[in-house]
Amino acid sequence: MGFLNKHQILERSPTLLLVASFLVVSIGGIVEIAPLFYLENTIEKVEGVRPYSPLELTGRDIYVREGCYNCHSQMIRPMRDEVERYGHYSLAAESMYDHPFQWGSKRTGPDVARVGGRYSDAWHVDHLSDPQSVVPESIMPKYSFLSDVAIDGKYVQDLLETHRMVGVPYTDEMIDNAQADFAAQADPDSDWDDLVARYPKAVVSNFDGQALLTEMDALIAYLQMLGTLVDFSTFTPDASR
Ligand code: HEC
Repeated sequence: MGFLNKHQILERSPTLLLVASFLVVSIGGIVEIAPLFYLENTIEKVEGVRPYSPLELTGRDIYVREGCYNCHSQMIRPMRDEVERYGHYSLAAESMYDHPFQWGSKRTGPDVARVGGRYSDAWHVDHLSDPQSVVPESIMPKYSFLSDVAIDGKYVQDLLETHRMVGVPYTDEMIDNAQADFAAQADPDSDWDDLVARYPKAVVSNFDGQALLTEMDALIAYLQMLGTLVDFSTFTPDASR
């Protein structure tokens, strides 16, 4: 009973209890936080993950601007129901170039982390223009106006530079060619070899089917690449971490 009696000293003095609690919590905190400063990287490097192409990055900005994240998550959890419905669970590396990340916290609509390649470009045009035309029970709003807004990538170089400032490894070559790559991705008749060399697996297409390059093109370029970069038939998690 000697030990319990000593404990009473702490329990009867609020000041002492406060100091002792503070000490215990600090030790716990240091043990959890300090190692993070010595780890070079807490995100496992995964083959295939690359920065967004200029057109995809522009589309991503439209996704953020329109608040798509209010209804769509981009984070597949490792539970069986999610993996069966959406595909391989999301890896941290898959959103390492997202500033800010688009994990979302609400699913009014489905998760879109792996929607890339699931539908045709034309389906996306129909769906974004008038969701009820393809999914009659849909409550998603119409975004038909995106087809009317022409864009020329005038500021896309600045956009890439800004992302480089926060750590996305855009090379000088990527930045110098930003506006050309922007246009090339929406024009299958252009010379897009260099674009695909810089951004492997980039989908080149006239996404909205119009001659004009519009916000619709950019948004669909973004949707069509989501979740397509990592080859999960060869991916094995790094067990050494
Ligand atoms: C008010 C909520 C809401 C907002 C805002 C919203 N959506 Fe949706 N979305 C839905 C719902 C509900 C569905 C499921 C029915 C359907 O397919 O239309 C859906 C379906 C989708 C699908 C098909 C996913 C699949 O796997 O079948 C895509 C792609 C999509 N939305 C993209 C977007 C984009 C891009 C935006 C922003 C421009 C957006 N959504 C904004 C509610 C929303």
